[in-house]
Amino acid sequence: AKTPVRVAVTGAAGQIAYSLLFRIANGDLLGKDTPVILQLLDLPQALNAVNGVVMEIDDCAFPLLAGVVITDDPEVAFKDADIAILVGARPRSKGMERADLLAANAAIFKVQGAALNKAASRDVKVLVVGNPANTNAYIAMKSAPDLPAKNFTAMLRLDHNRALSQLAAKAGVAVSSLEKLAVWGNHSPTMYADYRATTANGESIKAKINDEAWNRDTFLPTVGKRGAAIIEARGLSSAASAANAAIDHVRDWVLGTNGGWVSMGVPSDGSYGVPEGIIFGVPATCENGEYTVVKGIELDEFSKERFKITLDELLSEAEGVADLLK
Ligand code: NAI
Repeated sequence: AKTPVRVAVTGAAGQIAYSLLFRIANGDLLGKDTPVILQLLDLPQALNAVNGVVMEIDDCAFPLLAGVVITDDPEVAFKDADIAILVGARPRSKGMERADLLAANAAIFKVQGAALNKAASRDVKVLVVGNPANTNAYIAMKSAPDLPAKNFTAMLRLDHNRALSQLAAKAGVAVSSLEKLAVWGNHSPTMYADYRATTANGESIKAKINDEAWNRDTFLPTVGKRGAAIIEARGLSSAASAANAAIDHVRDWVLGTNGGWVSMGVPSDGSYGVPEGIIFGVPATCENGEYTVVKGIELDEFSKERFKITLDELLSEAEGVADLLK
């Protein structure tokens, strides 16, 4: 039998976790032959709720579930973790300034980065979902100097999947036929979903759609503001689709993409003019548990403009937390 994989999830009492944990325990993350141990972190006042979720997990009698840890101590949650999905974050409350939001989250991700540094497997794969996801991942990475920087990633996959769905509907093709989509930059409305290289059954989607006004005025705003549209309609933020994207991100990173492109927020190696270390959404392929950024994509004038907007936003977030990292 395989040794169980230790999967830490933070924000375990929250709504994304409620869609995520059951799927991990069911084998959707790592395959139906890999047992998992869930290591769940939340704040002290939320542990009772985590207990309730775990009662339900127990009641599913998942064959692959080899254990559950419940804790409010990040070092316990991350002990020997092979995978850490950091969902818990401080939401923006009414009247809260962006700087305060950044600072509140910086404090959380500094502690969690240090705990990962101390306790996790040296190969731990970290996915930050909690917003501002890219900058939170950046802070965790900077707070974990003994772990390879490349282990820290942020979730752009929900934007990627949202874009795939919009493109498939517009072009009248199956979503499963789409290849080579790239989502660049920050997980925020400034992200740039770039379908210039995208194909369906080998045919160019850009040529098939052939509508630059739709790209600029409909597609990009729809994908960028999708989170807000869901809050408006549902009264709650995206949760099941966010959990699904987290599963896609980690599963592909671990099990590979067979040459296919996925979008991941990863620490820049300096390519595409993004300063080293900034966690930037890029197209990547995954193989043998490692991701490789797709290189050599030319940026046209429009793409350069969009690229700059999202990069500038990330640079200003990094600047906003610089003092807290000293
Ligand atoms: P939620 O409010 O339902 O749950 C958050 C949970 O995190 C709560 O149980 C809370 O107690 C916990 N938490 C807060 N601080 C914590 C800490 N320091 N350590 C451990 N746990 C902590 O929120 P929901 O809907 O589950 O969303 C979680 C985060 O994911 C939010 O920041 C949201 O903005 C973000 N998100 C990101 C997406 C992406 O594409 N990257 C998509 C959708 C949501």
